[in-house]
Amino acid sequence: MCGIVGILGNGPVASQVVDSLKRLEYRGYDSAGIATLEGGHLTRRRAEGKLRNLQARLAEEPLQGHIGIGHTRWATHGRPSEYNAHPHATDRVAVVHNGIIENFRSLREELMGQGVNFQSDTDTEVVAHLVTREMRRGLAPRDAVAAALKCLHGAFALGFIFEGEENLLIGARRGAPLAIGYGEGEMYLGSDALALAPFTDTIAYLEDGDWVVMTRTGATFYDENDREVVRQRQKTQAGAFLVDKGNHRHFMAKEIHEQPEVIGRTLAHYLDMSAGKVSLPFDLPFDFKAIRKLSISACGTAFLAGLTAKYWFERLARLPVEIDVASEFRYREMPLDAGDLTMVISQSGETADTLASLRYAKDCGQKILSVVNVPTSTIARESDVVALTLAGPEIGVASTKAFTCQLSVLAALAIAAGVARGTISAEQEQALVSELMHVPGLVAEALKHEHDIEGIAKELSKAKDVLYLGRGTSYPLALEGALKLKEISYIHAEGYAAGELKHGPIALIEETLPVIVIAPRDHWFEKTVSNVQEVAARGGQLLMIGPAGIAHEAGIHNAQSIVMPDMAPTFSAIVYSAPIQLLAYYTAMVMGKDVDQPRNLAKSVTVE
Ligand code: F6R
Repeated sequence: MCGIVGILGNGPVASQVVDSLKRLEYRGYDSAGIATLEGGHLTRRRAEGKLRNLQARLAEEPLQGHIGIGHTRWATHGRPSEYNAHPHATDRVAVVHNGIIENFRSLREELMGQGVNFQSDTDTEVVAHLVTREMRRGLAPRDAVAAALKCLHGAFALGFIFEGEENLLIGARRGAPLAIGYGEGEMYLGSDALALAPFTDTIAYLEDGDWVVMTRTGATFYDENDREVVRQRQKTQAGAFLVDKGNHRHFMAKEIHEQPEVIGRTLAHYLDMSAGKVSLPFDLPFDFKAIRKLSISACGTAFLAGLTAKYWFERLARLPVEIDVASEFRYREMPLDAGDLTMVISQSGETADTLASLRYAKDCGQKILSVVNVPTSTIARESDVVALTLAGPEIGVASTKAFTCQLSVLAALAIAAGVARGTISAEQEQALVSELMHVPGLVAEALKHEHDIEGIAKELSKAKDVLYLGRGTSYPLALEGALKLKEISYIHAEGYAAGELKHGPIALIEETLPVIVIAPRDHWFEKTVSNVQEVAARGGQLLMIGPAGIAHEAGIHNAQSIVMPDMAPTFSAIVYSAPIQLLAYYTAMVMGKDVDQPRNLAKSVTVE
């Protein structure tokens, strides 16, 4: 996750850009940089490390331009260094970027084949060269950006300035956030409203797929199909920015929509995306090869992340996994062998039962690896090694982005375990890492079904009971779907392994019972489809979440469906979380429930 800024000012903007970057430094500080137009010419200053290094550089070599873009970097592609620092530029355009360009490798090869020389290891630089190529073909900057955007896959936000164009700033958003700010004859662009707080409290947010052309007198917005659109201006409260809902009604909605970005950020922490390998940001105080059994303990949604990971560790690393909810784990007195590994998973890092499980395992002589979102938490402090989820603060009581970030970390760890144990080859590692790199973009695509899901939720809100079904890694997701729905809408819901249906719950099926089937095209797809037919034969109200044509393939004509993007199956649970969360969110909203603070619940459960 990086921070980006752009300013069309009335005087020199370098110090304003730096002010704004200070507010974004929480997003990354591997390097920082700025580009302005000096006498019409693109000029850059960049420095490795924290923003103060860039400030020192600017003190020695000041910039006077009245237009500028700035960047603070969280390295994804290429090590932290000055040559990988943004902005990246050609003689025609400079660009700052937050997020991941998934297809950068093929674009880079294509551009190199056309004679382009690359100056960095980043995915970002392909964007500068693509825009330049279009401009050399005769397109105006605006059209060149529109053409280049069509070549890019992934979840990202971008800001551009152009050689000789003193009154033009272009931004684009797909998956990662971007806001623009309105000033007195000045205009601003930033990763969040916090970055723009020193200059203005009048903000408009780009919607997903939007791009924006800005001059000092205003902004014109375009949607992903290049149609001009209106995005409302709104007033924000500067002091409340860090816990601001953006243009969402609830924190939960904001956090659901942040997922492409925070998953990307989390994955970037655990993967070397340029090399296509897992690269853990810490040394392990144990050897995965020597571990005979992995025990996992957690509560609620975090437990369901662990249950999903069981499938990955067992399949990819052939490592047996024992998992239990922490309130049982801590009292079962199960024998745990010294030298083996216990993993605890917790957003808050303070959950009493999870902490007690950690202490029990430690007393048994086990090593403790924790997956937590709060680095200063008790669980983090008491662990041998901490794998952070970089989800940022989660305010909504129902966990959303923390869950998908937990899954992302666990997926990377399972691949690392597979490599260490020799159960996956270098080629398989590359393929799995590439699957993971596509996840943020696929989540962004899945979130586009929001409007359809809102419609479906209106129907669902009338139900008294709801059944969720799934097989393989979709089984824990069925449990998570039911948990999410019941905790915020108070509708009774149950999750079942689809194969268990005929061992009891099938008795519940009648016309008034909605049955939600999670069916990615994975190893178990055909079998799940058979279970769907069993439900249809008994008149259940089916909602199928799966690839295009799933209802048709199952031979069912009266089922509703949420169509998910095509994807490789291994990590589908991360992508399929998006519709599950939106369904619960909209159902609760339609019912007028307190989505962010549901009754009887608390964000951090420090009692047993
Ligand atoms: C459900 C939810 C809870 C938490 C559980 C564990 O949406 O948020 O089930 O997952 O209370 O909390 P942490 O992860 O903080 O240990």
